[in-house]
Amino acid sequence: MAIKSCDETKREDSAQRRGETVDEDSVYVTRPFMPPIDEFIPYLRRIWESKILTNNGPIHREFESQLGAYLNVQELSLVSSGTIGLLLALRALGVASGEVITTPFSFIATSNAINWAGLTPVFADTQVNGFNIDPESIERAITKRTTAIMPVHCYGYPCDTRAIDDIAARHGLKVIYDAAHAFGVEDDGGSILRHGDAAVLSFHATKVFTTLEGGAVICRDPEVRRRVDYLRNFGILNETTVAEPGINGKLNEMSSAFGALQLLYVDRLIEQREQVDINYRERLGGIPGVALPPLSNAIARNYAYFPILVGDDALLSRDELNTALRCRGVVARRYFYPLITDHPAYQSARKVPSRLQNANRIAREVLCLPMYPDMSEQVTDAVVREIRSCCSDASVV
Ligand SMILES: Cc1ncc(COP(=O)(O)O)c(C=O)c1O
Repeated sequence: MAIKSCDETKREDSAQRRGETVDEDSVYVTRPFMPPIDEFIPYLRRIWESKILTNNGPIHREFESQLGAYLNVQELSLVSSGTIGLLLALRALGVASGEVITTPFSFIATSNAINWAGLTPVFADTQVNGFNIDPESIERAITKRTTAIMPVHCYGYPCDTRAIDDIAARHGLKVIYDAAHAFGVEDDGGSILRHGDAAVLSFHATKVFTTLEGGAVICRDPEVRRRVDYLRNFGILNETTVAEPGINGKLNEMSSAFGALQLLYVDRLIEQREQVDINYRERLGGIPGVALPPLSNAIARNYAYFPILVGDDALLSRDELNTALRCRGVVARRYFYPLITDHPAYQSARKVPSRLQNANRIAREVLCLPMYPDMSEQVTDAVVREIRSCCSDASVV
């Protein structure tokens, strides 16, 4: 990997802001896996011949059942995005009013979905050591108005599902897991998507498994699945009946085809990611103030992200390191910074505790390093070299 000068990278940064193409030499935080194009052509032929582009077409139906079997889940409905999946899950479960307790340390889509469903997000803190919502904080946030909990399996680390499901059962609350990062993750009882009343995957282009845009709602109750299925299709029950107002949340045939083909490769892609994770862990240890991602208690992981924490005792702050890396052609990402509660849209939301101390700390310290399946050892080495050199020489900023 050729290392670039800071000026070169600054030029590219401003080009990117203007929407121009950026240099292909930079190492980006993620890169989608593109299956061999020749293997996609037969799917395209089928679509061309059938002239069915959407509306529960044949490839959609095949892919939906293949994916359910692959993930070993009871009920799975494909949808057009993770965000729409969260909306549909709330609606299908009858969460129609009140407050939904969620985490401030997530992508904005989690609380946007709550808001668009006409509900009020209330933010609980994250755990002291970890990236997920703290069950004790959830319990303290519950009021008479609380109707549901929406935790996030952040970076694919399983939430404390036992504690959360127990709280929900005691207070009569629905639980919808935002499982956007949790494709293929298993705990000792199987897929973590089985927890709660529903779990929602995202198949966005940045995810471990992608259909370009897309997602899935997973649940155990066939009646909830039936509701998701008609709600994703405008609420249409049959040719002459609309049961209730739905939305257009369908996944099209082209995306379904891309997903069906990705599915043939996904085990290999996760193995490759695991190797990148191993490479990073072997090479990145021992930098003062820089903590490697905690080991997951999952039985099967997906290695979706590699989030390091840059503490106060590091030579550089997280932001200084991020900028210095950018200058050297390494595009890491501050997922998730700012906290959702720091965006103008959510600044006035209720927070418990009000300072969200743990979430604020991780938002200040986290930096997700480049991580994608075909990231070679040389590229990983180069990224590590840049991090080491920045963290041992404060004059880089
Ligand atoms: C935690 C989280 N929730 C929800 C979403 C939204 O998913 P989508 O982009 O498929 O709508 C994303 C990512 O995109 C995410 O990272």
